[in-house]
Amino acid sequence: MTESIIELAHVWKIFGEGEAAAVAVKDVSLTISKGEFVSIIGASGSGKSTLMYQIGILDTPTRGDIHIKHNKVSDMSESERARVRREVLGFVFQQFNLIPTFTVLENVEIPMVLRDVDIDERKEKARSLLESLELGHRLNYFPNQLSGGQQQRVAIARALANDPEIILADEPTGNLDTKSGAMVFQILEDLHNQGKTLVLITHDPDLADKTEQTIKMLDGEVV
Ligand SMILES: Nc1ncnc2c1ncn2[C@@H]1O[C@H](COP(=O)(O)OP(=O)(O)O)[C@@H](O)[C@H]1O
Ligand SMILES: [Mg+2]
Repeated sequence: MTESIIELAHVWKIFGEGEAAAVAVKDVSLTISKGEFVSIIGASGSGKSTLMYQIGILDTPTRGDIHIKHNKVSDMSESERARVRREVLGFVFQQFNLIPTFTVLENVEIPMVLRDVDIDERKEKARSLLESLELGHRLNYFPNQLSGGQQQRVAIARALANDPEIILADEPTGNLDTKSGAMVFQILEDLHNQGKTLVLITHDPDLADKTEQTIKMLDGEVV
């Protein structure tokens, strides 16, 4: 019997109202087990990112319940929600979303600054994460001095800074060439093998085939 870590029950997300209402996520129920590697696939506009935003507590569903680690998100206070986002969840996006005026090392330190980690400890942790992702020689570079694949590895290091149990990745290989994309996917597989729960949105059916559960979306619904 595997333990669940994410549960969605009849989750809807509707943008706008009346004639302009757009149903982005339609009555989605699903369970993700602790330590599972799950992919979400579906055409552009099918609701994948919107679904990930609901799971990541970056948005509030119109209807339905989400439980993260058996805690109901809608029952949490705003500060509890922020804590879960910061300490339980790690995010990786297609556009990397690094801060351009911060160095590589500083970008990885940010989540730990928000958690009030002591400066020496947080610099050491950031350095060791970056070294493990083969970026030890780029600590004082700025994001625009790196290749796309390197920038995405910095973003992954940042996502790992607070040791989250769950990694949510929205098309992390979408902007990368095949070789860099394969390296990023290998890193995600390694994290899964270390026990993390991974949710990967991808357009690539070959990558989805390598995961343990594939959730296919069509027009906001899981099919
Ligand atoms: N903030 C928003 N306001 C209005 N409509 C939105 C918003 N975000 C997404 N949508 C709509 O919801 C649908 C699903 O979008 P999205 O979740 O981004 O799909 P995907 O990630 O699968 O490409 C689309 O029709 C999109 O236009
Ligand atoms: Mg999307």
